[in-house]
Amino acid sequence: MKFRSLFFALSTACVAALLAGVPASAQETNYDESKVPSYVLPDPLVMNNGKAVKSARQWTRKRAPEIVETFADQMYGHIPARPEGLHFKLLSKETVYGGIAERKVVRAFLDKGEEHWFDILIHLPAGATKPVPAFAGINFYGNEATITGRSIGSWPYEYIVKSGFCVATAWRDEIEPDDPKNTDKGVRSWYNKGGDWGAISAWAWALSRILDYFETDPAVDASKVAVIGHSRLGKTAMWAGACDPRFALVVSNDSGCCGAAISRRAFGETFEVIASRFPHWFCKNFQKYKGRENDFPGDQNCLAATFAPRPFYVASATEDQWADPKGEWICAKSLTPVYALFGKKGLGKDTMPAPDTPDMDGSVGYHIRTGGHALSDYDWQNYLAFAKRHLVK
Ligand code: GCU
Repeated sequence: MKFRSLFFALSTACVAALLAGVPASAQETNYDESKVPSYVLPDPLVMNNGKAVKSARQWTRKRAPEIVETFADQMYGHIPARPEGLHFKLLSKETVYGGIAERKVVRAFLDKGEEHWFDILIHLPAGATKPVPAFAGINFYGNEATITGRSIGSWPYEYIVKSGFCVATAWRDEIEPDDPKNTDKGVRSWYNKGGDWGAISAWAWALSRILDYFETDPAVDASKVAVIGHSRLGKTAMWAGACDPRFALVVSNDSGCCGAAISRRAFGETFEVIASRFPHWFCKNFQKYKGRENDFPGDQNCLAATFAPRPFYVASATEDQWADPKGEWICAKSLTPVYALFGKKGLGKDTMPAPDTPDMDGSVGYHIRTGGHALSDYDWQNYLAFAKRHLVK
């Protein structure tokens, strides 16, 4: 955004780099399955008034919005509406990857006066004869870094476009800096000022603006947009998918605590750690749940259930214990009764699959990849296969 200085951009990047992937206190982190506390997984099919959800209609009309409201109040904060002055301008357009792809940069102006904006980097299959399905995700280090810099590995554009999909991304820090000390420099400093929304909500809000853009671009089928994200941006993709039912499919890549992992397991990252180190990601109420996962009104399986009947894919990595792969799988597995309301199958299998053997027969997909915390080609291969199955008929 215009008001951000280069100095600020650099300091934010440094803080983010220092914080990423380092447990606050290694001694207190539990990585021992036998020490997972006994807990009751909240049942998403029980409404706040204690009554059971009996139909798909009741789920969509009443229970899913009730869960979203709870997570808005207690965890991520409330996402404001689309700004009135929102409009888009094409900044550049070129053909890339030997002619198979079109690369566009579109500026999303967030106000009539064009004082605030973020840029959307888009890759499309060149010469498509009908509107294509798409992926939308926020990136960590800038749009340019996904083409020529440190994020190249996470955004295999050529491969995605060859698979028949469009892919759009925007930079996290251009929307809302990822820094607990700079909560007054991003979109939250001028839009819905005073509203209690965390940075995760701000990034999720931007994902909905990308979808707004897709609705204006005839090259894209806006009814077939998957929302994707890695790690903190995987938490963001899930929150965007819960708040914006226009997203047709949700992908969580290594999203961990406050993403796809079951909080009550307190395995790897906990509420205590995440709320202390990343208070700016959440609303104020969330602070009261430090060390009190069991008192939170629900767990991440309830949030994930709000995607039903839309397809949902969860991926973990063997060396990413901080994000609790088993907890992520339990979350995916637990969704079966909710998808059943819609006559759909959840996860295909009852047991956690071995590494590198995806389970994607149903409307919920899961894999655990060999290796560390990352969004890799292997992950994309499976997301594209899953998205083809569900979005390309
Ligand atoms: C830290 C944080 C995680 C987060 C991750 C990331 O490790 O504790 O919650 O998912 O950074 O975004 O890479």
